[in-house]
Amino acid sequence: MIVLKEEDFIGKGNERACYLHPDDKNKAIKVSYDQEIGRSKQSDTEIKYYKKLLKRKKLSWKHLPKFYGEVQTNKGKGFVVELIRDYDGEVSKSFKYYIEKDGLQKYKKELENYKNYLLENYIIFNYGMMQGNILLRKNSEIDFDLVLIDGLGDVAHFTLFNEIPYFARRRITRRWNKFVNKYLQEDWIEKHRDKK
Ligand SMILES: Nc1ncnc2c1ncn2[C@@H]1O[C@H](COP(=O)(O)OP(=O)(O)O)[C@@H](O)[C@H]1O
Ligand SMILES: [Mg+2]
Repeated sequence: MIVLKEEDFIGKGNERACYLHPDDKNKAIKVSYDQEIGRSKQSDTEIKYYKKLLKRKKLSWKHLPKFYGEVQTNKGKGFVVELIRDYDGEVSKSFKYYIEKDGLQKYKKELENYKNYLLENYIIFNYGMMQGNILLRKNSEIDFDLVLIDGLGDVAHFTLFNEIPYFARRRITRRWNKFVNKYLQEDWIEKHRDKK
């Protein structure tokens, strides 16, 4: 069993807390922080989808944290993923943070690359895919990648066609347009701006 210490806490959202892996500074462990429920729907969806992705012959992990399997921890069942860090070793900050700081325009190219990656690799994401759940990894001072840390996998009942690239891409395009039209809007960004 892996013991997660409070000093290794990285961040949390609505369902999950993320800790630094005690044996590897480039890995993170995600656990459901509601000890009573002990599980998270998004974790179940994510793990299921990661297992599907691992079966693919070739897949680029450029815009996803790598997946290293499930583990038992003192905070219940968890799973290990790549901890996304910038070139200087800092844990990458969210896309939300950068949009609020610099505006959307600056990241047009990064968004385009990220969208193309999802389409080319027919990576299905769900409605958790918003700027607070995407990190911007700085590979250098000028080269950035968007990385999806929460919202991977499908929540729809009927997912059989996701294995067929044509249908998967149709679903991805629809969800992408919803993401852009709902969240990547100046008024939404302004309204949800983090207080300084
Ligand atoms: N792979 C990762 N690399 C770095 N930080 C991460 C990673 N995954 C999660 N985090 C951090 O942990 C927080 C919670 O994780 P997240 O998966 O978004 O949980 P939730 O589903 O509860 O929103 C994130 O907002 C982020 O700060
Ligand atoms: Mg989240």
